[in-house]
Amino acid sequence: MTRELLIPIARDVIKHAKAGTMKQASKVMRLPATHYTDSNRFQTEVEKLIKRVPIILGPSCEISKAGDFKTLSIAGISLIVSRDVDGEAHAMINACSHRGACLTKEESGNRKRFTCPYHGWSFSNVGDLIGVSAEKDFGSIDKNDYGLISLPVYESAGLIWAILNPNSKVDIPTFLSGYDKVLDSFAFSEWVYVSKRRFSGPNWKIAYDGYLEYYHVPVLHRDTFGTDATNQGLYYAWGPHQHIKSPATEKGHVATETLGYMTNLIDKPEDEWDTETLTYGVWTVFPTTSIASFDAGGRGVMISQILPGESVEESITTQYYIMERPPVDPGAAEEQFDFFQKVVMQEDYAMGSSAQPALKEGGLDHILFGRNEQGNQHFHQWIDKVLNSDNDNDLNSLFKNANNNK
Ligand code: FES
Ligand SMILES: [Fe+2]
Repeated sequence: MTRELLIPIARDVIKHAKAGTMKQASKVMRLPATHYTDSNRFQTEVEKLIKRVPIILGPSCEISKAGDFKTLSIAGISLIVSRDVDGEAHAMINACSHRGACLTKEESGNRKRFTCPYHGWSFSNVGDLIGVSAEKDFGSIDKNDYGLISLPVYESAGLIWAILNPNSKVDIPTFLSGYDKVLDSFAFSEWVYVSKRRFSGPNWKIAYDGYLEYYHVPVLHRDTFGTDATNQGLYYAWGPHQHIKSPATEKGHVATETLGYMTNLIDKPEDEWDTETLTYGVWTVFPTTSIASFDAGGRGVMISQILPGESVEESITTQYYIMERPPVDPGAAEEQFDFFQKVVMQEDYAMGSSAQPALKEGGLDHILFGRNEQGNQHFHQWIDKVLNSDNDNDLNSLFKNANNNK
């Protein structure tokens, strides 16, 4: 019962809420501005982080039925993510094994096979080569050698992870450090996919930093969350992954679900703590994902995927909106998702973009993360740990020996 994994966290939050205390990082962190602006550093992050560690491809419910597929692009690599007749998820590089043509430009659909639009080779929806046009002209090629390139995939807690390196030796459960077991308390595998938004923003880490602290909330989001929203977050870590909850004690605040106020539970005995409230707060999945709860005429989460764009100055964010049940009023739900997108673009990312020139042109040589911005410190420390790991075996040891801090 994964609910049991959430109880000690809520207990800790309530202890701090009642005592008016906080846990913080032991010191302030200084990060060189070049970490956000240097093109070589950016390229290293793409090669040694994004292409080596497991990355979330989306929620399971986006491709819930046999034959369902979707396409997406990560670090310039186009992928097909599909589900087979046995219910298993697959990820393949969206490139024909004949001469590399893009097999499909469709965003999503349901198919038994993909036929290459160039010369007509065909592949099953899990990437097996099943048909070669004018086959005799290719002599004796073994079709088994010419399937699509498939990637290591792991599906757990209603989320799909893959590693962009087809030959990776990184063990995905080790990387997750037990975090997926905790995320499973949402039961996303039984939820429904509702909608998606995609848009660009500033440097991917400038963008992601905004998902890692509450310090900015009552200031930057004063018109949306209000000046009385909490600016404090308590952090709980499983290896590189972090959950943030709020020690605020105000009841019924608009930020309750998203920021994880535990006030619904504060006066109740533990056996009456409901699982939904226990899941409130922000769940970041290292290195590119953040999950936050909302109510849109029903319980839902926004899964934000913040990926590096084509250059150091650009990120691409995909927001997946999934809900426990289909929304009662789909039109109203879409309006609410538009609003969430607007807040992120016009408040968070606009502010991030405004910092970019000063970081780039040498106005600042470093930035600061306070003791209250512990989540950002943890994130940037973990990026360095991964970049400093030479190979997949080192990465496995790194994740295996990571401390959980709950
Ligand atoms: S590139 Fe696909 S069939 Fe030729
Ligand atoms: Fe924000």
